[in-house]
Amino acid sequence: MKTLFQQSLMRKNTGRPPVWFMRQAGRYHSHYQNLKKQYSFEDICTRPELACEATMGPIRDFDFDSAILFSDILFPLDVLGMGLSYPEGPELSWHLKTRQAVERLVPGDISKLEFQSQAIRLIRNALPQEKSLLGFVGGPWTLFCYAVEGSHQGNLISSKQGLVDGRFEGFWRILSPLLLENMVLQAKAGADAIAVLDTCAGELDPQTYQSHVIPPLRELFKNYSLRCPEVPLVYYGKTCGPDHWKSLTELPIAGLGIDWRHDLAQVLSEWGDRWAIQGNIDPTWLFLEPAELTKRLTQVFETVKALPVASRQGWICGLGHGVLPKTPESNVRLFIELQRKFFQGEGK
Ligand code: CP3
Repeated sequence: MKTLFQQSLMRKNTGRPPVWFMRQAGRYHSHYQNLKKQYSFEDICTRPELACEATMGPIRDFDFDSAILFSDILFPLDVLGMGLSYPEGPELSWHLKTRQAVERLVPGDISKLEFQSQAIRLIRNALPQEKSLLGFVGGPWTLFCYAVEGSHQGNLISSKQGLVDGRFEGFWRILSPLLLENMVLQAKAGADAIAVLDTCAGELDPQTYQSHVIPPLRELFKNYSLRCPEVPLVYYGKTCGPDHWKSLTELPIAGLGIDWRHDLAQVLSEWGDRWAIQGNIDPTWLFLEPAELTKRLTQVFETVKALPVASRQGWICGLGHGVLPKTPESNVRLFIELQRKFFQGEGK
């Protein structure tokens, strides 16, 4: 039996659209805050029983249709020798500021990410059958920006310079074999899909995106699809638009994550026969008064429901980015309950 999420990825979901949020486990959630009183973020990620508990918290409390492995996109940088820690936010012990610095990277040893595979097995056991589980990795360009800048802040001047001086190419040639093994490890352990989170993608103009970001993605996705054809890919490129998406049409992805800057109905109409579309409510809406949130969500749901079935059978309901810290839990609950109520009876 395929889950709602799996059916949507095949664009064949005639039932209620599935719903899950990026960062559904995190700082806004009292369950996660309680775990953090006892354990560090790294502990929670790297101890499989804790990663499983963090992953399951939002499933139990809010009944999302999909779980997402509790982990972080930056662990591969640690495996490449960049010394990752999380004193407050993430910190690397050195940055990729020169072409020579690329030589400091060590070839990736996938056994260092074995904790993810153990966590996925535990989550799979704990997760009800009708729910899906996502694995995830960061896109090469986004991981490069973090390797260069240490964060996703400012104008990414040095990262963009790295596209010209050979740093990006040197970096992704070392990163890609590890990233491929990371995706395969998650798929083989039991993930239903792998999300590729490319948060920095839309910082580039569409031409540069096509000439520099697409080649490593193409190679990675092609190799991955040969190894794991049965576990589909969902690509999320933040701040990307149709001119970026055009370059993705030749890549073997099943779903596209979009941010809140786009008109959902229009994207579903224009792209929904090609990919499952995931998104795209503005995460700041979750700070609105419940009545206003209800009004706005109902409007979005009505617009989607009015679309021809063919364009909405691949809709995965969610946010345009992650749940923000301090988001009221009551509004997360309201969102899920309203979505259930609104689409109740779909396909019956
Ligand atoms: O519930 C889930 O979605 C799974 C967990 C998850 C985390 N990070 C946990 C986390 C996921 C999917 C990520 C992905 C991730 N990590 C991305 C891509 C998606 C995005 O949000 O853009 C990026 C860019 C990172 C890198 C990263 N890790 C940042 C920028 C930060 C600090 C800022 C923040 O939002 O907290 C982290 C730390 C991190 N990763 C935390 C969590 C719950 C916070 C740790 C803490 O302070 O307790």
